[in-house]
Amino acid sequence: AAGDLILSVESSCDETAMAIIDSHGTICANVVATSIDFHARFGGVVPEIASRKHVEAIVGVFEETLARAGAHFGCDTLTPADLSAVGVTAGPGLVGALVVGVAFAKGVCAATDLPLVAVNHLEGHLLANLFANRELEPPFVASLVSGGNTMLVHVKEWGDYEVLGSTIDDAVGEAFDKVAKALGLGYPGGPIISKLAARGNKKAIHFPRAMMHSHDFRFSLSGLKTAVITYIEGENKAGRPINLPDLAASFEAAVIDVQVAKAAEAVLQTGVSDFCVGGGVAANPQLREAYKKRFRRMGVRVSVPPLSVCGDNGAMIAVVALRNYRDGVMADLSLDANPNAKL
Ligand code: KG4
Repeated sequence: AAGDLILSVESSCDETAMAIIDSHGTICANVVATSIDFHARFGGVVPEIASRKHVEAIVGVFEETLARAGAHFGCDTLTPADLSAVGVTAGPGLVGALVVGVAFAKGVCAATDLPLVAVNHLEGHLLANLFANRELEPPFVASLVSGGNTMLVHVKEWGDYEVLGSTIDDAVGEAFDKVAKALGLGYPGGPIISKLAARGNKKAIHFPRAMMHSHDFRFSLSGLKTAVITYIEGENKAGRPINLPDLAASFEAAVIDVQVAKAAEAVLQTGVSDFCVGGGVAANPQLREAYKKRFRRMGVRVSVPPLSVCGDNGAMIAVVALRNYRDGVMADLSLDANPNAKL
């Protein structure tokens, strides 16, 4: 009906996710099962728990994805015979989590003779922007900000990526998570902190903007995290109550100022006129706004992914798989997970 149908499998962290898209990139089904509740009390993802939850969830997610794609076409559930290829995240991510998805995808391909397509998770976050802006075309600069990554990328062509710089310590999402943990606010910290920050005064407390003027594209976030924790301890010792919205807003502003300044520098240096963001932190409303404001002044177009595909999901993996499949870039059944895969 819709040309090729691509099934994707994503299990790099704590989301067991699958999607089916058609050859136009339209999402027919996008199912995400998260084990986040099982990690919350540890303040971060526990790799072995994530692996075991993938094993428990993956068959149900597969059946649900086929059923929803069937409903999308107004029929009963689809079957693997309706598909053209299976894409799977091979890395980067937690190795014990990745192998569950990779083994499952290989199993489907072995049973059906469907071609297998390997996908880089970071490329998925990048191409999630196509769901908001189908016209997005290289060259452009992208910021990838998630729980595990913080980098600026010069996308010269699809598939030709130059990492301009990345964090030398913590990732941006990790900083949000650690600050929330220090405040006893729960996990993941990003959505909690950004909600608090929306009603706080970002000038209330001054936190360091590390490496803001380092004239390169490296980031450092662990000092900021320490500064926030030191502040919390100081206030606690002095018996002063902490104004959570002000603290959240001040922390977030320190993060955003550096992200925006370096992104603007990267856009100027590369001479591109498009900028986009990807990864879980791309859901942060204040960050999205700050980029739009800065780049509007510079005449640079900004794309942000729809909120539904900022966090880990199968749809973004399927978009990359569709491209690779069309280009004839297939994997075989010896495919292994690569936890340290580079963009
Ligand atoms: O991309 P993602 O789902 O998983 C990784 O591949 O890491 O990103 C998850 C990260 C978490 O650190 C979470 O705290 C952060 O994204 N995050 C946010 C927001 N929503 C999620 N950070 C800041 N503001 C948000 N609104």
